[in-house]
Amino acid sequence: MKLKTLLATAALSGMTLMSASANAFFGSSDELKLGYLVKQPEEPWFQTEWSFAEKAGKQYGFEVVKMAVPDGEKTLNAIDTLAASGAKGFVICTPDPKLGPAIMAKAKSYDLKVITVDDQFLNAKGKPMTDVPLVMMAASEIGYRQGSELYKEMTKRGWDASSTGVMAITADELDTARRRVDGSIKALKEAGFPENQIYRVPTKTNDIPGALDAANSLLVQYPTVKQWLIVGMNDNTVLGGVRATEGQGFDATHVIGIGINGVDAVNELAKSKPTGFYGSLLPSPDVHGFKSIESLYKWVKDDVEPKKFVEVTDVVLITRDNFKAELEKKGL
Ligand code: GLA
Repeated sequence: MKLKTLLATAALSGMTLMSASANAFFGSSDELKLGYLVKQPEEPWFQTEWSFAEKAGKQYGFEVVKMAVPDGEKTLNAIDTLAASGAKGFVICTPDPKLGPAIMAKAKSYDLKVITVDDQFLNAKGKPMTDVPLVMMAASEIGYRQGSELYKEMTKRGWDASSTGVMAITADELDTARRRVDGSIKALKEAGFPENQIYRVPTKTNDIPGALDAANSLLVQYPTVKQWLIVGMNDNTVLGGVRATEGQGFDATHVIGIGINGVDAVNELAKSKPTGFYGSLLPSPDVHGFKSIESLYKWVKDDVEPKKFVEVTDVVLITRDNFKAELEKKGL
């Protein structure tokens, strides 16, 4: 290729690139734009919500603007950006429930409609902002199921309860997390697990490293426990707990961890050898993603008021044996 042609081609592709990215940012047409803001885009849970939100977008003909909002500053900036791009509203899983009033004030200033997903906003008094529409999982019930399944698996393995401990990794400042863990502990107690062998430890961050640190600090306090049941609000929390037990020399036959989210546990369940991570409760990230933005769309487009609270109750236990089939059934 001659230099002149080469330069012309480069300039042209540069232009195409520029306009492609401008389109991605400002949209290429008059298509309605709706935001979908999530606190932890690295979790497959939120990636699944995004992809089902996009499915709704294709079905109804709107554009989904996906944004990562790991902290308060990024959240408020994202709302400015959305408003500047002409979006009419957004679905959000906030990085911090206490940002609720600030998020709502900013959204109102731009006349943007808001639907919350997964985590509920709290007002200045720390009370749930029940007037903001919310789509979330049935936290207490799904937590209760976690505890029941742990007890069932422990019984199946014939463990002696007197030498078994429950490691409950908590994140009580997040209401959905508190309710899941409390539900799980309730189920274990009701099944007859000794209450004084249920140990709670808070995690500083809601990810594997945070849970791993919390679990390590707990393990050193109870060196006589021979088997562990691991409770936590989601897969990453339980995975952190499992990694800590491995670090202390517990193998898969002495640990039962059951997570929540399912989609975040796929790599673990696909490992060639079983680990202490026995399974996960798979709720419906597909439903959360689709329904939340669908109701936002109908609100913006046809002025149909969304329900203030949609609780998603479906849940299935996935293990190494059935995870592929169960995920496929949901189109995941
Ligand atoms: C919270 C958790 C996520 C996921 C959702 C589901 O936001 O942090 O991992 O479990 O709830 O509603």
